[in-house]
Parts: sequence; C-alpha cells; structure tokens
Amino acid sequence: MYLPEKGKTRAEIFEFLKIARSYDARWEEGRIYAYVYDPGKDVMEVGKQAFVAYMVENGLDPTAFPSLLKLESDVTRAVIHLLRGGEQVVGSVTTGGTESILMAVKTARDWARFTRPEIQAPEMIVCQTAHHAFHKAAQYFGLKVVITAFDPQTFRADVDAMRAAITPNTVLLVGSAPAYPQGVVDPIPEIAALAQERGLLCHVDACVGGIHLSIMRKMGRSVPPFDWTVPGVTSISTDLHKFGYCPKQASVIMYRDKALRRFQMFTSTKTTGYTLVNPTMLSSRSGGPLAGAWAVLNYLGEEGYMRLVSEVMQAAERMMDGVRSIPELRVMGQPDMCLFAITSDSLNMFQLTDAMVAKGWTVQSQFGKPGAPRNMHISVQYSAARHADDFVAALRQSVEEVKLAPPIDVSAVLGPLNELLASGDPQIFENAMALVGMQDGKLPTELALINTLLEAMPDDIQAQFLIEFFNNLYA
Ligand SMILES: Cc1ncc(COP(=O)(O)O)c(C=O)c1O
Repeated sequence: MYLPEKGKTRAEIFEFLKIARSYDARWEEGRIYAYVYDPGKDVMEVGKQAFVAYMVENGLDPTAFPSLLKLESDVTRAVIHLLRGGEQVVGSVTTGGTESILMAVKTARDWARFTRPEIQAPEMIVCQTAHHAFHKAAQYFGLKVVITAFDPQTFRADVDAMRAAITPNTVLLVGSAPAYPQGVVDPIPEIAALAQERGLLCHVDACVGGIHLSIMRKMGRSVPPFDWTVPGVTSISTDLHKFGYCPKQASVIMYRDKALRRFQMFTSTKTTGYTLVNPTMLSSRSGGPLAGAWAVLNYLGEEGYMRLVSEVMQAAERMMDGVRSIPELRVMGQPDMCLFAITSDSLNMFQLTDAMVAKGWTVQSQFGKPGAPRNMHISVQYSAARHADDFVAALRQSVEEVKLAPPIDVSAVLGPLNELLASGDPQIFENAMALVGMQDGKLPTELALINTLLEAMPDDIQAQFLIEFFNNLYA
C-alpha cells in the first residue's frame, strides 16, 4: 500500500485487519502446537488489558516511568525465585528468548574481554540441538560457535564432546532445559561442573522450560536439575511469552550476580543527546509486554500455573501414547515436559506435516541431521490440551493418507538445481526458486517438496537459498 491521502475510517481499518487475520493460523480454535501459547480467554484478557494500559509508556528512562522499573523488578524477582535463585541473582526483562540469549552471549564476550584479555577470538560450545539464537548471537557479536554432538538415542548434549572441544579461547558452555527439537533437558549439572572446573561461564537456555519445569517440580513430578541450585550455572534465560503464557514480547535473562550483569549494560556518553543507559538491546521499550507479564504472573499465581501444567502434561502424555500406538510412528527420545518430536522410518514426515496442516492443525517440520531424522515438532500448550484425542485421530488418518500418496521424488529437481547452484549464473536464486516452485514472492502452502529439497542441500547453500527467498518476500 501507499500512505493513503486521507485517513480511512475505523470501520474500514478493522474490517481490513479482520480479513487479513483470516489467512493466519486459527489459534483461537486451539489446534496449534507451535508459535502460540494460549492460557484461555480469561487469563488472555487480563494480559491484554494490562498490555494495552501500558502500551505507550517507555522503558527507556526509569526516572520518567518509575512504575516500569517496579514492574520489571517484580517480574524478574518472581522468575528468579521460581528458579530457586537467591538474593544475589539478578536479571532483566527482554523481548524474548532471542534477546535474552543475545544478552547472555554479549555478556560472556565482554566478561572474557575484561577477565581474560589474552583471548582474541572467543569461542562458545553449543550442542547441535541448542537454539539458533546462539548462532545469531555469535554472528552479531563476533564469537565462534563450536557445535558439539548429541546422543542419538536420548538427544541430550554429549558432555565428553564438550570437554574435548574446549580450547584456550573458550569462554562459554551452553545447555538447554529443554532443547526445543525433542524436548529433552541436557545434563546441566555435568555441563555446569565442566564450566566451573575450567573457569568458564555456563548459560542454561530455559527459555522454553524455565516456568513449566519449575511448576512441575513444585507439583512433585521428577524434573532434571537445571536451575540456580546447580553449581556452576552463571546465566539462565526463561521466556514469559512461551510457557509463562504472557503476551509477547517477554523473557527474563538472569545472572549469578551483579558483577556479571555489569557486562550486559550499555551506556553512551559521547553525543550531544540525552543520557542513555540500556540494560538490554533496545532503547525505547513499550511498557506493554512488561505490564502484560506482571499481570499474568499475578493473576495465575502458582496455583493457576499448576492447573495449566497439570492439564497440559496429561494431554501431552496421552498424545505421546497415541503416537506410540501408530505402528509407522515413534516419539524421539524421552521428552522431559510437553514438547516432543514424531518421526517415522517409512513415511515422509514432511508429507505427514502437510496432511495435518491441510486439516487445520498447526504443527512444525524439523529437518533431518545425522543422528536425528526429519520429524514433526509438537509443543503442547494449554489451549491445545483439549484436542489431545482429536489430534491422535487426525494423525492416524493422515498416516493412512500419506501411505497412499505418491512419494516425493526430488531427484528430477535436485540434479538441475545443483547444476544451477554450481553455475555462477547471476540469476541463480531466481531460477532455482522457480525450479522448486517458489515464485512471485508467494508463500507455498504445501511444503513437503520444498522441505525435502532444502534438507538435501548443503547447509551453506540452504542458508543462502532461504535468505534470498526472504529477501524477496518482504517489501
Ligand atoms: C530453547 C529455545 N531457546 C530460545 C528460543 C528463542 O525464543 P524467541 O522465539 O522468543 O526469540 C526458542 C524458541 O523457540 C527456544 O525454543
């Protein structure tokens, strides 16, 4: 669009937005196992009201908006306490898991610059199952990521591989609680002990699990150790906008003490402008997400979270049992909470995902890597719990459909595609995109063919391909 010469009416605007939303995943129906965490209408409404009430307030300057400082301290302290940290543990509220992880990595880099100035090219050790955000942080902040192996049976980080990967340049070890792909918690005590033994920092990515696992523990369920009670852990990220069921954008990054958090802070004193100190990435920050998080944490309380976690766990367990009862499918590893991955030795999982999406279920495909075959990821969140049995029925039906569907054969496209990619043709990506059916900046609805091709490409070509596609997708 262009900026309209004259403003439109409210009615026109909201009619347009209503129509635009009708193309999106229908999260309100609850058949959604990624992207959205819906605690139900009542809780959602409380988060929304608080969000809107604070939409305009700006976290840029706590002297102008002291109430935001109070809300941030409350939210941070509540999460630290839930994760069993003492008074010396501190933190900040960020816009999400990625920002929390960016901050943890920047802090580790700047800590190393100060405490180990001899390190010119800092490295961090990250299991292959850890989130992309560590790779993004490394790219943004100039660290090298050393990727280490996972156990192909349990999908947990291989601590011996981490030990072997330590060099004089290592500054940070990372563990996940849980890692998103298969929903399993890494051996955090062993990773943290290794970090401590070598004088390194240890970050626990509990973006997904921090709240849910802590509530499970309070309910008397067995939970692998991952929080502030584990010696050697120096920072933890925990998202509020995932299983904290708060409105996006809200996460907490925590540090062992203020001495470490110092390295997260940014100030600039060289301009003619106003005084600027940013604890996190952003300068201007809407108070909306913070107020939304404060409201939801207080509205639900421990009791409310226990109700959500209890329903979600019952549903996740029924769903996993259902998957295991379908002969063609299996659950990967032994998930520690309500996230799991489904794979198959006989079916193309990308086709199965498409078949589920076509029936109105929002589920995600994950690519195969050596030791972890391609799979369908399921994050069971509260509003999806009530569909557990329907989900298994739809999955069973989709399996039968995929068994009858013609198999995806990429060989006819892969040959010409590889030739094109090797040719140095300046039109390379446009032509390649046309070859795989991604044209005119349109988003494909069936992804099985494209995913099968992308998965077959070398990592760097796949990355270039995706960047090219998205570079053309947005205005
Ligand atoms: C384990 C883990 N860490 C970090 C992130 C990044 O979170 P966000 O999407 O909020 O930036 C995710 C997202 O799924 C995740 O699963």
